[in-house]
Amino acid sequence: MVRIKSPDEIEKMRRAGRVVARTLQELAQAIRPGKTTGEELDRLAERLVREAGGTPSFKGYRGYPKSICLSINEQVVHGIPDGRVLQEGDVASIDLGVKLDGFHGDAAVTVPVGSISAQADRLLKVTRDALMLGIEMARPGGHLNDIGGAVQAYVEKHGYSVVRELVGHGIGRELHEDPQVPNFGKPGTGLRLTSGMTLAIEPMVNEGTHRVTSLPDRWTVVTADGKLSAHFEHTVAICEDGPKVLTEP
Ligand code: MF3
Ligand code: CO
Repeated sequence: MVRIKSPDEIEKMRRAGRVVARTLQELAQAIRPGKTTGEELDRLAERLVREAGGTPSFKGYRGYPKSICLSINEQVVHGIPDGRVLQEGDVASIDLGVKLDGFHGDAAVTVPVGSISAQADRLLKVTRDALMLGIEMARPGGHLNDIGGAVQAYVEKHGYSVVRELVGHGIGRELHEDPQVPNFGKPGTGLRLTSGMTLAIEPMVNEGTHRVTSLPDRWTVVTADGKLSAHFEHTVAICEDGPKVLTEP
């Protein structure tokens, strides 16, 4: 069942989303080769979220141990921050959810660690642009698969692949609500979009195969071929006059 939000509820989600966006900005600035570890970033994220009056949505969710997911290079999503030292040339996806006043916001960015290869930079750019194209399709009267269709067409045109096994999601009082939001599909099909729906749209884009597998920690998802992956996410409200990104500073 898809839960439709009132303007008041969407405003609450915007406030949660703002904390997500500001915290992600701080984390992105703190990321540097050599000295910054996932554990430090995770502690910084948790402190900033709590100072803003929120709670980290992921911590304790199905037993997840940390406040952020930090997924490096061939890690697609759900990397657990640990003592690993970030290296010049890595790409790091930072994913954060915040609950504030009963509602969640959820967003992710993939950022360069120091200077990165032109290839890696292109993957990041294509993934970010694919997210923005998907968001543009989140309009009343459209169909759910307009979103994934736009993402998939753009990604594949650039020679990359879209992960199938993980998808975006509805979001609100719960971190994960209906519907599932695939990053692939046939435009004009699927659920009819209406105003008041709130979706976390989160393309995961691989340089090589779309196939993924899990590490023995049972959280970290990695590409099956070990090639690079990128991930960008926004929480979006479908409004009468079009999509509103809620995870902006
Ligand atoms: N953005 C991801 C999602 O919405 C992160 C979830 S991590 C978890 O699925 F720990 F909360 F599972
Ligand atoms: Co999400």
